[in-house]
Amino acid sequence: MTTAMPDAAQPISAGTAATVLEARGVTRRFGGLVAVNNVSFDVREGEIFGLIGPNGAGKTTMFNLITGLTAPSAGVVAYKGTLLTGLKPHQIARRGLARTFQNIRLFGNLSALENVMIARHIHTHTGILRGVLGLPPSPQEERAVRARALELLELVGLSDRATQQARNFAYGDQRRLEIARALALEPRLLLLDEPAAGMNSNEKQGLSDFIRAMRQTFDLTILLIEHHVPLVMGLCDRIAVLDFGQLIAIGDPAKVRDDPAVIEAYLGDEG
Ligand SMILES: Nc1ncnc2c1ncn2[C@@H]1O[C@H](COP(=O)(O)OP(=O)(O)OP(=O)(O)O)[C@@H](O)[C@H]1O
Ligand SMILES: [Mg+2]
Repeated sequence: MTTAMPDAAQPISAGTAATVLEARGVTRRFGGLVAVNNVSFDVREGEIFGLIGPNGAGKTTMFNLITGLTAPSAGVVAYKGTLLTGLKPHQIARRGLARTFQNIRLFGNLSALENVMIARHIHTHTGILRGVLGLPPSPQEERAVRARALELLELVGLSDRATQQARNFAYGDQRRLEIARALALEPRLLLLDEPAAGMNSNEKQGLSDFIRAMRQTFDLTILLIEHHVPLVMGLCDRIAVLDFGQLIAIGDPAKVRDDPAVIEAYLGDEG
């Protein structure tokens, strides 16, 4: 099997106004297992796009392929007409993609505020330069970063616990903290890997409203992996369904919900 890898600067389409993310024939093998199998889809500007499917379907692997944590065995991913494939995760983040993780990745021994500030520092050019030179951030920058981080904590409802260690937060709160940290990178495309996992039903309902509000406030496009079907159906503009690495359905929630292949995949999972 040959993997044609086009030049990283070469657009794979004109990057039309409506389409921001393009996956083309994306495949990822782990030894004999094909975790993602020849998957192609487009995500349009401003939409909340759901990626669903049974356990082990390849959803998180797809996120890893988009955000550069995993390299495809074949195929490419492009953002606004420019290839992401071949770039490092931080280069992809700089292009405006930020994510949260299914297995939460916070600095447990740092405060909520520090977790968000670190992401913010990474985003600031002067922060990086001073960091490389071994200098602490300038006092003005530190103040600005702190103020912005507090705003983001306020937004996710955690500002009153800004100084508490992340490890002491309940799961649902850790997930919201991860969202604040992702927003500190000023993304245009936000990828959320099971944001409702560990949340109670009240929190889940609140999360839907919150995700919609975030899209509005930050003018975001959102990619969402989620198992909680009512949340996905109520929130997403379009949904793609993976099963054993393959894209078996894509479309609006009503169309996907009634698709026999989708029903079969989920009944098979439950059986
Ligand atoms: N680094 C890896 N090495 C080997 N196999 C992997 C690796 N990452 C994922 N896999 C396998 O690839 C398949 C897809 O995994 P993935 O985590 O993408 O599924 P998922 O759809 O996110 O599932 P879940 O809903 O349980 O989170 C699984 O069979 C998994 O065991
Ligand atoms: Mg997963």
